[in-house]
Amino acid sequence: MIEYVDICCGLAWGDEAKGKVVSYLASNYDFVCRWAGGNNAGHTIYINNNKYKTHLVPAGVFHNIKSIIGPDCVVNVKSFFEEIEYLKNNGFDTSLIKISPKAHVIEDSHIEEDIAKYAGQGTTSKGIAPCYRDKYARMGTRAENIYELEEYLWDEKLYGKVLCEGAQGFWLDINYGNYPFVTSSTTLPYGACCLGFPPQKIRKIYGAAKIYDTRSGTDPDFPEELLNDPFLKKVIMEGHEYGTTTGRMRKVNWLNINKLIIAINISGCTDIIISKVDVLEKLGFYKLYYNNNLIEFNNMNDMKNYIIENLNNMCPLLDNIKFSSNVENI
Ligand code: IMP
Ligand code: MG
Repeated sequence: MIEYVDICCGLAWGDEAKGKVVSYLASNYDFVCRWAGGNNAGHTIYINNNKYKTHLVPAGVFHNIKSIIGPDCVVNVKSFFEEIEYLKNNGFDTSLIKISPKAHVIEDSHIEEDIAKYAGQGTTSKGIAPCYRDKYARMGTRAENIYELEEYLWDEKLYGKVLCEGAQGFWLDINYGNYPFVTSSTTLPYGACCLGFPPQKIRKIYGAAKIYDTRSGTDPDFPEELLNDPFLKKVIMEGHEYGTTTGRMRKVNWLNINKLIIAINISGCTDIIISKVDVLEKLGFYKLYYNNNLIEFNNMNDMKNYIIENLNNMCPLLDNIKFSSNVENI
């Protein structure tokens, strides 16, 4: 019996510290499950001051919790086994990791096609779009048909308390993002229902956000000129805004509150965690966009209060707003 399901989703363009939030919550659950995407994602997790990176395996494994790669995920078999090796070498119990038999497999030809045809969209070159294309064209290969994955196949049972771990973010969603500068999967929390629980079981939806906006990859909403802004450049440096998966420098802009409000409301967030507050505090500039105006604050407290007041006014489902200044805690 499933008691309840909580979901953690990204509210921006990925890289909102979902890994940190999920890792912080994980030990309270029986399962931690990824519902979409593949090794295009990159989660950085700190445990007892040690830094770990995963691309596909959910963060439950770091806390000895069953970790499921769900049916709408896409799996690169080689990089999956590399991740298993990496986790084993770091002392984690990889027998907790299971893949849905329904997940699709990324072929070498998908990666080659991604590199050849999608470079202009600034993809992560992991074969994501061609793999989902073949899935929806009903000509893909599922994990259940891959002999090497046999011992990792999930029995598709869920029970107790379930935490679903999002990948990418609201504005990279196949429907809601700046198409075609999007990823090929459902990044919104409803996508998690593919794991096989009824939507009525959803209890809380945690949204991960950041105190400034970042974009890794091409997007006309994040023009290259942003890289020339001396203040935003300092945010890149201080915030280490380089892609976990691609190593590319991310474009940074001041937080767009209007977009955050839309993402919170459509996602149905009950709780949000706004990270990287320490970056702006160190630099001493406090700005955000609201209704196309760039608003400047004297200090972080004023900026936080402004955010809290406006989100409370505009987001009726939201109960809890937390800020985080720390890579490990909230
Ligand atoms: P794809 O998912 O590799 O096809 O890339 C599509 C777009 O989504 C590109 O702009 C990527 O940079 C972006 N993207 C995909 N996954 C992530 C992620 O985990 N974090 C940030 N951006 C991502
Ligand atoms: Mg990431």
